[in-house]
Amino acid sequence: MKKIKISPSILSADFSQLGTEIKKLEEGGADMIHVDVMDGHFVPNLTIGPPVIKALKNYSTLPFDVHLMISPVHKYIKDYADAGADIITIHPEATDNLEESINLIKKLNKKIGLSLNPDTPINIIKKFLPSIDLVLIMSVYPGFGGQKFIPRVIDKIKELKNIKEKQSIKFDIEVDGGIDFDNSKLVIAAGANILVSGTTIFKNNKGDIKKNIDILSIKGTGKAGRISKGDLMSLVGNIPQPSTRKSTHGLEERVKMTRLRVTIAKRLKEAQNNAAMITTFNVGCVDLSSKRASLILSWIVIISRY
Ligand code: DX5
Ligand code: ZN
Repeated sequence: MKKIKISPSILSADFSQLGTEIKKLEEGGADMIHVDVMDGHFVPNLTIGPPVIKALKNYSTLPFDVHLMISPVHKYIKDYADAGADIITIHPEATDNLEESINLIKKLNKKIGLSLNPDTPINIIKKFLPSIDLVLIMSVYPGFGGQKFIPRVIDKIKELKNIKEKQSIKFDIEVDGGIDFDNSKLVIAAGANILVSGTTIFKNNKGDIKKNIDILSIKGTGKAGRISKGDLMSLVGNIPQPSTRKSTHGLEERVKMTRLRVTIAKRLKEAQNNAAMITTFNVGCVDLSSKRASLILSWIVIISRY
């Protein structure tokens, strides 16, 4: 069973006391520290450089997950490696020779990640997938914290997971941007195993970092673990909209319902096999009745940790 890892983005931390903030993240159960490096050119914002990373390394033993949003990135890779980055993630658009940049990161004995903007297709990096450690799927346009999650990237995560399984290759699938307590479950179910989060970790529950990390990594329970019906629909797919008709459902609708039952049964089985975490969500009012009644159903959704 694979653990879901949380990589808090310090972009939402108090910049006047970054060292203390990083300590809090480690105590709160973070798995790594996500550092967003922006140059005011590749993205319209400016953040921090290698000396800051070097100084912050004294405050935590966690791996530094450095997300470089700078262009041209190649000439700065060594500086970030020397400063103490453990994972170096670059955007394919930010280098003239992606292969060379990948090789340089590997030569420096760092983990290599490739990041895909919401509009960048997997194809661009497909041939490198067997030789990299991580793909960072952007679920917002890079540049700022606190933006709204773009739901269509869920399909990209699924596609990536399929490639990973079909080709039996190992790389982490990390998602970055607008992650909250609801969409976190969707991206995990789609195949992500590392979640980046700034706003949710630093601002939710009055800044209770531990609690927020626990909920995001599905260690937490309770209200925050609930998911909306709309989200559930996009998670399992093919759930028919509640019918207002009192008559028998049409053939097409019944086929959809059968598919849904199969999906749920399959996920239950996977969960049993993987001893995965099972979460029950009451989505209410999904009309599965054959004749009159509209049933309030409790669906069991399995978030498998793989
Ligand atoms: C966006 C950054 C993200 C982002 C995360 O360019 O790469 O790491 O700021 O912050 P939230 O969780 O606030 O979207
Ligand atoms: Zn980032």
